[in-house]
Amino acid sequence: MPITAVVGAQWGDEGKGRIIDYLAQQADVVIRFQGGDNAGHTVINEYGKHALHLIPSGIFNPQAQNIIGSGCVVNPASLLEEMASLEAAGVRLDNLWISHRAQMVMPYHRTLDALEEQARGKDAIGTTRRGIGPAYADKAARTGLRLGDLLHPDWLEARLDNALTVINRKLTILGGEPVDGREMFALLMDYRQRLGDRIVDTVPLLRQALAENASILLEGQLGVMRDLDWGIYPYVTSSHPTASFALSGAGLPARSLDRVIGVVKAYSTAVGDGPFPVELFDEDGAKLREMGQEYGATTGRPRRCGWFDGVAIRYAAWLNGMTDLAITKLDVLDHFETIRICVGYRLPDGRVVTDTMPDTPLLYQVTPIYETWAGWMTPTTDCRSWEDLPKQARAYLHRLSELAGVPIAYVSVGPEREQMFEAR
Ligand code: GDP
Ligand code: IMO
Ligand code: MG
Repeated sequence: MPITAVVGAQWGDEGKGRIIDYLAQQADVVIRFQGGDNAGHTVINEYGKHALHLIPSGIFNPQAQNIIGSGCVVNPASLLEEMASLEAAGVRLDNLWISHRAQMVMPYHRTLDALEEQARGKDAIGTTRRGIGPAYADKAARTGLRLGDLLHPDWLEARLDNALTVINRKLTILGGEPVDGREMFALLMDYRQRLGDRIVDTVPLLRQALAENASILLEGQLGVMRDLDWGIYPYVTSSHPTASFALSGAGLPARSLDRVIGVVKAYSTAVGDGPFPVELFDEDGAKLREMGQEYGATTGRPRRCGWFDGVAIRYAAWLNGMTDLAITKLDVLDHFETIRICVGYRLPDGRVVTDTMPDTPLLYQVTPIYETWAGWMTPTTDCRSWEDLPKQARAYLHRLSELAGVPIAYVSVGPEREQMFEAR
């Protein structure tokens, strides 16, 4: 079986967790390749309902190796909490590994995230306040601490001292309290004791997996529209949720990717600030939110909702080199007499854009151009094949696929593992 990247094709929360959970039943290795505990990947299966933040969504397959890759930023406290909650539900964690190259999110990163957001005032990004931006900033500034540092206490102590000279200055400038180095080191030694055995060099494991022609899934966090380079900068996360980064963040050779599955919600949602051209402020928006239960899996924030955005999907399909679409939450549209699809953005000068993403300041000024489609007004939640779907639903999906220029491989019609099927 091939090496497959599963990436968010919109603004996050497309249903990546549930797709990975489904595909991981056949996988040998599942790797989270970027992001941190800003993720909330909901999985519903025989172990109950879990919102995974750091642990790959393949953890429910006891045969699969699950790796938190080098492209991730890991808050050990969150990881330990998540491990405890999964263990309490009877999930085995024997095959959970963390790359020694992954960066640590420290308590001071969370403090900085909150202070920086406060300082931004009306221009706040609307982060999840999990310390993601400050942790990646430290990585780039080379003041970050890595999981592997826990295995070398003397080195770690020196690295921590060095980091804190800068961090404590930043904290003080932003009105926070400086951090006590000894307290921090004691915390790190506790993490070492509890996580040390899982911190590994992933290269030998992945070399062997490749040699054995293993099936490998690369799990993305968030979606293209919040990619650090390709998203709605500055209203983005501080890593790259796109497939091009998947191999680097996982630690695999560049030419190894066989398949890229773009996970797409049948409509649009976003949490956090920034331009969102298809956002609805009317009854339809409120109905999408209620029917889709669109509240953040990590922060509980209500998600901004709108109709499907064909411009964003074309952009996402191209950037990711998508080979397949997995369309989720089709059932949410069961309740709409008419459904709209955005097929272009009109710029202030009258020009129409269909396949690229205007830069952020311009994106605030575009007007979406919509097509109107008849709804099917029939429950799809019990559909288990393409043929089971109402005719109008199939036509709607066809249109989404046409706009993306990518065939549909999977459709989901409810949050449970069984409520998903192959579309061919
Ligand atoms: P992720 O971050 O991409 O994994 O997505 P989230 O878990 O944050 O958000 C997706 C939400 O939609 C979760 O609450 C899922 O349980 C739910 N969900 C996923 N697929 C479907 C579906 O096909 N239908 C419905 N009704 N809910 C779904
Ligand atoms: P999953 O993996 C939706 C958004 C935040 C904010 C921006 C930057 O579940 O799809 P950050 O905390 O990363 O610095 O915030 O990105 N954001 C998400 N939105 N789903 C997520 O994860 C998100 N992770 C971050 O709302 O706009
Ligand atoms: Mg989510």
